[in-house]
Amino acid sequence: MSALAGRRVVVSAGPTFEDLDPVRFLGNRSSGKMGFAVASAAAARGADVVLVAGPVHLPTPPNVTRIDVRSAAQMHAAVTAALPCDVYIGAAAVADYTPVSISPNKLKKQPGQDTLTLQLVRTRDILAEVASHPKRPRLVVGFAAETHDVETYARGKLVAKKLDLIAANRVGVEGSGFESDENTLVAYDANGATTLGPGAKSDIAGGLLDLIEARLA
Ligand code: CTP
Repeated sequence: MSALAGRRVVVSAGPTFEDLDPVRFLGNRSSGKMGFAVASAAAARGADVVLVAGPVHLPTPPNVTRIDVRSAAQMHAAVTAALPCDVYIGAAAVADYTPVSISPNKLKKQPGQDTLTLQLVRTRDILAEVASHPKRPRLVVGFAAETHDVETYARGKLVAKKLDLIAANRVGVEGSGFESDENTLVAYDANGATTLGPGAKSDIAGGLLDLIEARLA
């Protein structure tokens, strides 16, 4: 039997959209596919899965409880409300900054205004907060999307956010990352590194869950 059977697993997936006004937002290119693949694979292994999904166009995997959110603040609230759990997997590409305020009306161009400066404020780091929470899950797993110096940045996040494992991928290269069905991840923990893939995101998700299972057994 899988070590995940009967465990409560919370997965975040997709981007967040930070509204500027009723018609505009700041977003990113996360498709949600990797997080949905992880949620799907965990449910198939018998876990009780809550999937907190940003705005994506993906079907809900079988036997997964899905909570749809839009902004980083909503994702933070939904993830926090889903605790306690045994495993948290933060696969979402959460916005690091959000507008200081949302205009209730559509922002209009001003005559003679050729440049526009947006004022943004840091969002709360959901992953770091979960890892330092009084109800900390037994395992906290993060993701890192990097264009360069992947290992250095991923290991930095592993330590700074107090994670058990971090799955890093190169973004900005063809055939990998955000919009692709294929991916390559390198999972780092305090002791070493395991390469998962290249392969279908469903297979990579299975490999990541094998690493998680080994730590739960
Ligand atoms: N994360 C989060 N809450 C945030 C920002 C990120 O939970 N407000 C999580 C993501 O779900 C992911 C990991 O943190 O698991 C990504 O780490 P982060 O340091 O935010 O990566 P980047 O956004 O790429 O940051 P940087 O620009 O510093 O590389």
